[in-house]
Amino acid sequence: MRFTEDLKARVSKAQKKIVLPETNSRRVLKAAERVLAEGFAKIVLVGKLDKIKTDAAKYQIDLTGVEVVDPETYYRMDELCEYFAERRKKKGMTVEKAYEIMTSNNTFFAAGLVALGEADGCVSGADTTSADVIRAGLQVIGPRQGNKTVSSAFILLTNTPQYGDNGILVLGDCGVIPNPTSEQLADIACICVERAQRTVQMLNPKVAFLSYSTKGSGSGESVDIVRGAIDILKERNVEFDFDGEMQADAALVPEVGERKAPGSRVAGHANVLIFPNLDAANIGYKMVQRFANATALGPLVQGLDKPILDLSRGCSSEDVADVVAVCCSDAITSDIYKKNMAKQ
Ligand SMILES: CC(C)(COP(=O)(O)OP(=O)(O)OC[C@H]1O[C@@H](n2cnc3c(N)ncnc32)[C@H](O)[C@@H]1OP(=O)(O)O)[C@@H](O)C(=O)NCCC(=O)NCCS
Repeated sequence: MRFTEDLKARVSKAQKKIVLPETNSRRVLKAAERVLAEGFAKIVLVGKLDKIKTDAAKYQIDLTGVEVVDPETYYRMDELCEYFAERRKKKGMTVEKAYEIMTSNNTFFAAGLVALGEADGCVSGADTTSADVIRAGLQVIGPRQGNKTVSSAFILLTNTPQYGDNGILVLGDCGVIPNPTSEQLADIACICVERAQRTVQMLNPKVAFLSYSTKGSGSGESVDIVRGAIDILKERNVEFDFDGEMQADAALVPEVGERKAPGSRVAGHANVLIFPNLDAANIGYKMVQRFANATALGPLVQGLDKPILDLSRGCSSEDVADVVAVCCSDAITSDIYKKNMAKQ
């Protein structure tokens, strides 16, 4: 696929190190082989070297060049447990409990490697639920400075170039916050715009806040929440185009946009769609994926200080490798964000 090939080529120069904790999964080992063969990132696997070697031989997977870290013999385990106990102190975390978690939960341990700077990002979720991967990100890493909301996006690659950015759309939040507040919707929009710019290289993100109402045609509690998000973005003085509330057809189809929201810079040309809640978002992306035969890349967790990315449990080894490429891109974005914050 052109999009992921371009992404891999773009991130390759940085040679980011990505940790894959789910080494009991053949798909994950195969993905590691794929990434190493394509050469766009370095890979760290979590687990016992002997077991990984035996499994790789059994499945005929070549893992030459991979680094393996075993939590039980990890040389910075004390430091990691102290860090985690300190972070979760108010929740009653102790060094002993931290040790128990870090030696029994590979995704938490992998997030720990990222927290300590031993890896640039983590990709998990082939065998782990989304909630567990996101929890590891929230508890071990946490939201980045200047941002309160962790959310997720899907990049939809459609065969309908008349919509979005030549057929590409960024949708949020399809995976984390069940009922976002106005403030959270505003945060989701900002971070989706960053994803559109950095991961997709969209030059002109245009954000539509979706609803069943367009510009006052309907009313209700959820419409008020969406309008609240728009007021917040106005106050924040953001540099991208945004508008709403609007129905999906007004957001995407120029003639409908002109009719329902005349004068809008976004209506009819939206390429970033912010859904009012998780039900609408999750159902919406799956409908497009199936009916339009579109590729849906995600859920891409965003807003953490360092990238911990989730996978769909139905993923293939190719999907895992693609998300590793997004993780590299997010790690680069995180470096740029930190540099900019340091300058301020
Ligand atoms: C994401 C999710 C797992 C978080 O659950 P949770 O029980 O709040 O998780 P935790 O208690 O471990 O959260 C740790 C901290 O992060 C905070 N937090 C939770 N969600 C957050 C978010 N979206 N952004 C920022 N912080 C968040 C919590 O308030 C908590 O803070 P505290 O330690 O100061 O109290 C939960 O919202 C969820 O299950 N979402 C749906 C995920 C899902 O099933 N998606 C399926 C579609 S792909």
